Amino acid sequence: MARRFSELTFTDSVRDAQRRYGSREQNLGFETSDDHRDRITVREAQFIAERDSFYLASHGTEADGRPGWPYVQHRGGPKGFLRVIDEKTLGFADFRGNVQYLSAGNIVADPRVSLFLMDYAKRRRLKIWARARIVEAADDPALIASIGTPGYPAQIERAVIFDVEAVDWNCPQHITPRFTAEQVQPLLDEIEQLKAKLAAFEGQPVVQH
Ligand SMILES: Cc1cc2nc3c(=O)[nH]c(=O)nc-3n(C[C@H](O)[C@H](O)[C@H](O)COP(=O)(O)O)c2cc1C
Repeated sequence: MARRFSELTFTDSVRDAQRRYGSREQNLGFETSDDHRDRITVREAQFIAERDSFYLASHGTEADGRPGWPYVQHRGGPKGFLRVIDEKTLGFADFRGNVQYLSAGNIVADPRVSLFLMDYAKRRRLKIWARARIVEAADDPALIASIGTPGYPAQIERAVIFDVEAVDWNCPQHITPRFTAEQVQPLLDEIEQLKAKLAAFEGQPVVQH
């Protein structure tokens, strides 16, 4: 029994590092936990639905099977574009981009990926490990239609489906709060209203009490 992410990530060299730096005992807790965190619960689903981007890590594989370099790409779209299909499945519409197809090519050779989702404003971050598979638009138009966002200006080339293996939340340390234009807009509107009110007072005598 273990928290699923530790089964995926605590390799021998990671355990050695934990011993070397004195945190092995602390990390044993993850390996004996009954809280497996191997699926999307309501908490993760709500967080994912609010995201308009995530980072996708895959890695290259050479023709002889040797592991290649890690690769991270930013994926963006309308809020909620990473869909929760069910508690073990996520998916998103892959838009036409720079046509390098690094993630798409990596996934075919080794489906193991990491997703990293940030809420900078609330200083929260979610890690997801999954096996990815590609569904070409021509092969399943119904899936593509269900996973896309009508009216969003991008050409969908394929769906990327993630079979979820593990999830884990991180603490907020060292996350600088950042706000989107959408989040800041109400404050800008309020500033404009206050400026207009102030302008109405301009030129009027100051009342001394
Ligand atoms: C015209 C165009 C040019 C792009 N150029 C770049 C680029 O130079 N570098 C980059 O990281 N992403 C670029 N992007 C965004 C990527 O194409 C997009 O994130 C895509 O999903 C990358 O997938 P991949 O990294 O898995 O190949 C571009 C997108 C478009 C539409």
